[in-house]
Amino acid sequence: MRLAPGPARAVDLDRVDLFDLDLYTSGDPHPIWDVMRAEAPLHHQVLPDGREFWSVTRYDDVCRVLGDHREFTSERGTVVTHLGEDDVAAGTLMTSTDPPRHTQVRRAIGTRLTPRAVASWEETIRRSIVRFLEPALDGGTWDLAEKALRLPMIVAGPLMGIPERDWDELVQLTAMVTAPSDPHFQHGSREATLAISHHELVTYVRDWVKGRRAAGGDGTADGSLLDHLMSVRAGDAPLTDEEIALDGYSLLLGANVTTPHTVSGTVLTLIEQPDQFAKAQADPTLMPSLAEEALRWTSAACNFMRYATGDIEIGGGTIPAGGATVAWIGSANRDATQFPDPHRFDVTRRENRHVAFGFGPHYCIGAPLARMTLRIFFTELLQRFESIELDGEPQHLRSYFIAGMTHLPVVARRRKTL
Ligand code: HEM
Repeated sequence: MRLAPGPARAVDLDRVDLFDLDLYTSGDPHPIWDVMRAEAPLHHQVLPDGREFWSVTRYDDVCRVLGDHREFTSERGTVVTHLGEDDVAAGTLMTSTDPPRHTQVRRAIGTRLTPRAVASWEETIRRSIVRFLEPALDGGTWDLAEKALRLPMIVAGPLMGIPERDWDELVQLTAMVTAPSDPHFQHGSREATLAISHHELVTYVRDWVKGRRAAGGDGTADGSLLDHLMSVRAGDAPLTDEEIALDGYSLLLGANVTTPHTVSGTVLTLIEQPDQFAKAQADPTLMPSLAEEALRWTSAACNFMRYATGDIEIGGGTIPAGGATVAWIGSANRDATQFPDPHRFDVTRRENRHVAFGFGPHYCIGAPLARMTLRIFFTELLQRFESIELDGEPQHLRSYFIAGMTHLPVVARRRKTL
């Protein structure tokens, strides 16, 4: 998806198709969202097959939809690729559960992902990222978007307790779940790709747990993240194996499909805007604000979905009870009421209250880990390379759910002092 929008253009709001995959592969959704925020903050679309959804694009409305489970429930599914199908994991999978059940499970899982808990992994993660960057030092063409798909597994694989031999398969499967229409990841039809990948991922975690139990373990709170899941209690009861498999699946998915695209989208922007590259390189204290701006700018999780629990008034209109409601995070993060000069990528931006990690009870549980990974990645990248240039056409992911890239061929010139 194009991150720096082209010129403003006339938009016919009655004909806008937000599920048009070409819009994200070769088009330019930002000028459309700009018009929607200004003129149709609540937008209704009916797909050719009869499925329909309502879209909110303003910052405040996106926060309300994601944040208020009494008006907008997660229990019928939250991912737009499943629009219209009731979530089979409703009420079981953490992401598809409302409080109070959600709060119990999340609190227990989250103790291993707090900023303090992930701080202890900092040096391990730094070493992994330094190793990840090494091949680029050769000065040859390096496809950052392709390589970066593996980055979350390199970082989180050891923490989750997943052996290296399985990383590539899991990267492939998680990409299939989130971009089932992208030719890089598609296996047969879109529906088949979704079904296969979902099944294989859940089976992977289920088998992992079975293997642990067979080896005499029942998970220890201080083992890997998946061991920890086995020890989690929601209320009085431990999680069932099915719940562990589903929550392990969402941790894998959350980790794998977002961070790589924040990395590649930001590096492309730093290449296109050498003044921002130079600013960030000259001042390492800017790494935290660069990471936040990277998150806002790329908004890798482009949207999340909820279902209205009753007739809900929002954005100057009404969503009928049961209506699928898509909160466009990518648009909210460019809302001028929150972000001055929102289409400017600014590594020094202050007061950056972006919603790239969502808002409210389902706020990304992996945010501390993702933030640390991004800060370390940009620090190590800018320390090593004097400049980075494009060496071919970037290619964007064919997905209206994840804003990302599949190819970003670059050539990096190492700094003389290295
Ligand atoms: C740049 C990186 C990331 C971005 C942009 C991102 C984005 C998001 C967003 C927008 C949500 C809210 C979903 C909703 O409201 O329904 C979310 C939730 C979640 N994320 Fe992330 N995420 C990132 C990294 C991670 C990582 C590294 C992990 C795993 C360690 C992770 C695991 C999860 C999980 C399990 C949830 C569901 C939380 C819940 O339902 O309470 N994410 N993420």
